[in-house]
Amino acid sequence: MSDTKFEAADRPVMLEIRNLITSFGPPERPLVAVDRLSLKLRQGEILGLVGESGSGKSITLRSILGLIRPRGRVSGEILWKGRDLVPLSERALGDIRGKEIAMIFQEPMTSLNPLLPVGIQITENLAAHTDLDAASRRREAITLLDRVGIPGAAARLGDFPHEFSGGMRQRVMIAIALASRPALLLADEPTTALDVTIQDQILRLLQSLAGEFGMSVILVTHDMGVVAACCDNVAVMYGGRLCEIGSTDTVIERPAHPYTEGLLHSIPRGGAPRTPLYSIPGLPSGLADRPAACAFASRCPAATQLCRETLPLPTEVAAGRMLACHHPRRTAEELRHG
Ligand SMILES: Nc1ncnc2c1ncn2[C@@H]1O[C@H](COP(=O)(O)OP(=O)(O)O)[C@@H](O)[C@H]1O
Ligand code: SF4
Ligand SMILES: [Mg+2]
Repeated sequence: MSDTKFEAADRPVMLEIRNLITSFGPPERPLVAVDRLSLKLRQGEILGLVGESGSGKSITLRSILGLIRPRGRVSGEILWKGRDLVPLSERALGDIRGKEIAMIFQEPMTSLNPLLPVGIQITENLAAHTDLDAASRRREAITLLDRVGIPGAAARLGDFPHEFSGGMRQRVMIAIALASRPALLLADEPTTALDVTIQDQILRLLQSLAGEFGMSVILVTHDMGVVAACCDNVAVMYGGRLCEIGSTDTVIERPAHPYTEGLLHSIPRGGAPRTPLYSIPGLPSGLADRPAACAFASRCPAATQLCRETLPLPTEVAAGRMLACHHPRRTAEELRHG
């Protein structure tokens, strides 16, 4: 990654999330799935969002587009190019969804139209978002299907979603999302079901779109190898809260939060294999019994009484590095200077 290193300060901020809280259940006893999350995403940036199952990654992405089902409560600010999406009506959000901001869901069938051949789903998106004529749209649809790894793409334009296997459907969904030329792609574990060769192909495609067209991406994954291979920055979540954010290289080389350190435990030095997240002993607490103080305290080897009593707030410990921990694994000096 170092030769294509993301020049963070040069690019405009496209998305800024401030103090996002997404909760379910009765207001007097809310089940908080995302708790006071703040982050920034610049043009052309690929941000990896990692954390164990249940940490609030999907709900964070869905909150951005107002797609919480059944409906939860969302508060805070989600500034897209400076405009807050949180108070927008369903109709105003509908104009942004799938156009400026596209989402790839964990489950492909939720975003494919079962009644339309995939070629039409792609060319319709191209018609809405580009000036291409019909012949060029067809060619571009074939190119997109080819680039996501659909063999014999031209012959498959007339096929319906159910005629593709699970992995192929996932690729089709990615091609449809990309056809709208989104400025922001929210990708929820887009390559999980795919083999490593196709994963690499799709990750390279996302990288080239980020590089060529300045598309920003939030990429949810449970695979630190995927983060190492294609993300400029990484945000680590636990229990609905952010633990740590920083450039991929520095977070992987010098994790500061004990949870990040646990996640990285199984990646051998110098390598970035496709490694599922290391399983840290113990289980995360459910939404109903999540502690008000540090949610990781019951599993953390460094926990003290302070951690069990006081919530560690995210603090900028070095340029571009946020950390929420009372007892980080590195001193501020180490984090500033490596
Ligand atoms: N509609 C809902 N009502 C109540 N709880 C929900 C709802 N949707 C998700 N949750 C809970 O919110 C937490 C975060 O979920 P999610 O964002 O899907 O986690 P992740 O994507 O990190 O695995 C989980 O504990 C999940 O059970
Ligand atoms: S605040 Fe305390 S319990 Fe939480 S991660 Fe840091 S050291 Fe561990
Ligand atoms: Mg999820």
